[in-house]
Amino acid sequence: MVNSLKKPWLLMPVKLAHDMLPYILPALSVLYKKELPPWHSYSWKHLNFRNPMGIAGGVDKNAKNISAWCGLGAGFIEVGTVTPLAQNPNPGKIIDRNPNQLALWNKMGFPSQGVKDTLKEIKKHSSKVSVPIFANIGKNRDTPNDQAHEDYIKLLEAMHSHVDGFVVNISSPNTKDLRVLLEPANLSRFLNPIITKHRNLDQNENHQVKPILLKLSPNMEKEDLLSAIDTSLKLGFDGWILTNTTAKYEENLGFGNQGGGVSGKPLAERSKEILRDVVAHLPAHVRKEKIIISSGGILSKDDILERLDMGANLVQVYSALIFQGPWFFQQVAQN
Ligand SMILES: Cc1cc2nc3c(=O)[nH]c(=O)nc-3n(C[C@H](O)[C@H](O)[C@H](O)COP(=O)(O)O)c2cc1C
Repeated sequence: MVNSLKKPWLLMPVKLAHDMLPYILPALSVLYKKELPPWHSYSWKHLNFRNPMGIAGGVDKNAKNISAWCGLGAGFIEVGTVTPLAQNPNPGKIIDRNPNQLALWNKMGFPSQGVKDTLKEIKKHSSKVSVPIFANIGKNRDTPNDQAHEDYIKLLEAMHSHVDGFVVNISSPNTKDLRVLLEPANLSRFLNPIITKHRNLDQNENHQVKPILLKLSPNMEKEDLLSAIDTSLKLGFDGWILTNTTAKYEENLGFGNQGGGVSGKPLAERSKEILRDVVAHLPAHVRKEKIIISSGGILSKDDILERLDMGANLVQVYSALIFQGPWFFQQVAQN
């Protein structure tokens, strides 16, 4: 339960509050700017994370607030989901919240300014911030699945020199049939040309190896989940984000029966179950080399410590920034 009086944005219509955030955030980041002490800092490959807390995919879809999130204490930034061409959100209602249950619902469907404009924003901010920046990449909704890899390759080519790593997103429930690509029968064929192109780009740029991660769905059966881990591992992926929003949610959350995906507290148990299964599946020497980022229902410092204890190397939040406020990272790292 949150006290909405202390969080006036929770009293505003949810879509309005969401649309206003990019305009308010830069001011908040100046007002609340603080030099945070390192907290559970972490180094992996050539990347240094001053704390393990990142903004999750979807928070800064068009990379407009990289500096603001950095000023508010994020340990790393993930921009996107970025699509090759600009596209609008899905029609109709696309976001809702239930503050009593600490739950968010969305059916956005990758609204994006497209890679060209997003790249301009990344270039504007990246020299000013000292935290790793990942790009979460996705296909345009009109691109059929048998050509989807071409969209991801375009995004890698455009962004490779400008970000520290990539997240391949095929786990959103809000782009029709996207998650079919995660199925064992399709995954290897889909990922293979993407990772091949990625490693070529690494080599062309003085062997600057940029990590590439796969974001997984909480709605995968255990067998398919572990098969996706094995397939991506064999292909040379560097890690995983566990997990995206859940398409399976209880009616009592008040979001009706309208598809979409739920984040926040109702996702926490499933996200932890997936983390547990993946950690148990990976041999210790593989875990040392790869990265696991836990996402889903992380709403407090204790939640973060629990995920790190369970084997996650880093965490990401979206719902916490809505229900606790954009100063969440500072509150955690200071106390
Ligand atoms: C409004 C909204 C938009 C989102 N958009 C994206 C997105 O574009 N790409 C993505 O990979 N995940 C997206 N997500 C999922 C989040 O990155 C995260 O995986 C999920 O919300 C679980 O974290 P949480 O419980 O801290 O919110 C979105 C979530 C929300 C609530």
